[in-house]
Amino acid sequence: MLNNKTIVLGITGSIAAYKAAEIASRLTQAGSKVNVIMTKEAIQFISPVTLRAVTGSPVVTEMFDLASEFSIEHISLAQAADIVVIAPATANIIAKLAAGIADDMLCCTVLATKAPVLIAPAMETNMYNNPATQDNLTRLEARGFEIIGPASGWLASGKEGVGRLADINDIIGSICQVLGRDGDLAGKHLVVTAGGTQEPIDPVRYISNRSSGKMGYALAEAARDRGAKVTLVTAHTSLSEPAGVDIMQAGTAQEMYQAVQGVAPHADALVMAAAVADYRPIKAAKDKIKKDKAELTLKLELTPDILGSVKGDFIKVGFAAESINLVENAREKLKQKGLDLIIANDITAGDSGFDTDTNRVTIIDREGKIESLPLMPKREVADKVLDRVAALLSKRSKR
Ligand SMILES: Cc1cc2nc3c(=O)[nH]c(=O)nc-3n(C[C@H](O)[C@H](O)[C@H](O)COP(=O)(O)O)c2cc1C
Repeated sequence: MLNNKTIVLGITGSIAAYKAAEIASRLTQAGSKVNVIMTKEAIQFISPVTLRAVTGSPVVTEMFDLASEFSIEHISLAQAADIVVIAPATANIIAKLAAGIADDMLCCTVLATKAPVLIAPAMETNMYNNPATQDNLTRLEARGFEIIGPASGWLASGKEGVGRLADINDIIGSICQVLGRDGDLAGKHLVVTAGGTQEPIDPVRYISNRSSGKMGYALAEAARDRGAKVTLVTAHTSLSEPAGVDIMQAGTAQEMYQAVQGVAPHADALVMAAAVADYRPIKAAKDKIKKDKAELTLKLELTPDILGSVKGDFIKVGFAAESINLVENAREKLKQKGLDLIIANDITAGDSGFDTDTNRVTIIDREGKIESLPLMPKREVADKVLDRVAALLSKRSKR
């Protein structure tokens, strides 16, 4: 998503300006060309040398710089941009943009660009809550500016409150979301499930599996980056929540069943990448089970069949993690559960399946056609699966 994109990163005079170096570096590493514009005040907080070094590109700090490589900078940067991101954005720049002031290079670039503008406010709580700042943000939002954050937490004033620069992952996620909003899944609603459910044995123990949630999270991010509205129904994972995605927590198979039944029938597609427990203890003990017997028998019962029971006019995609008879078992599951596609997941090798960054899958459709993919990063697998979902959705809309 970020590869080969041109991003103007505006940095303003906030104490959070040092975090902009990390944003610039992450975007550059992802393949974007990052053109940094710093206000006069931003330079008090972080050196342009740092931004020059992490982006490998000149940093604009002056309105009138005759030595610059850009001809008429505010226009050339504005025209080249796929997106303008201001992070951190001070109360001052927010006020200036709301008023349409053009007295520095960043304001001029924003006025001159046709690209989307994303701003990440960062300031002390009272400055943020001040009706002037709130009014300015409302005006910018009404004009189509995208706003991310601010978050709550520790502030430079030594107090806790709202005003912290949004988390860097969330800022990068929002950039991807904005850049992808006209993608092939624009206007579609996808529900993705992820992670391994935990079925309680007693208040501290549970039955679960090795699912890391990485495949489901990659699917959710990829769908977001192709313009979809995404609901991620997630069991426990140690991953951070993707930005720009609606999150529903579902710790157990029963909770996931209820969440999916509630949301999927109104969606365009359901992609079930979660590893839902097949069995759960019939009754979880109320108190912690004591270690006072030589043997302990747990009685298990089947969990609800989510994929088999959820009904509606949406594309249904399942995953089948198999250690033997990969294709036959997956085909059987596709038929049994009335799926449009099944992604058969070979879990016999250490580099594929649970808790890995890569996956080797075979995609099988209703007609029985088989597409075997080589080992690839989960994000690439996600895009391959979504290529198929997008094709099915477009076929459906032509019916
Ligand atoms: C130490 C210090 C920290 C500041 N931090 C912030 C901040 O986090 N957010 C903010 O809106 N203003 C902050 N300010 C005030 C801005 O730097 C000031 O409004 C400045 O005019 C902003 O200019 P700019 O928007 O052109 O970068 C801070 C000022 C100082 C002295």
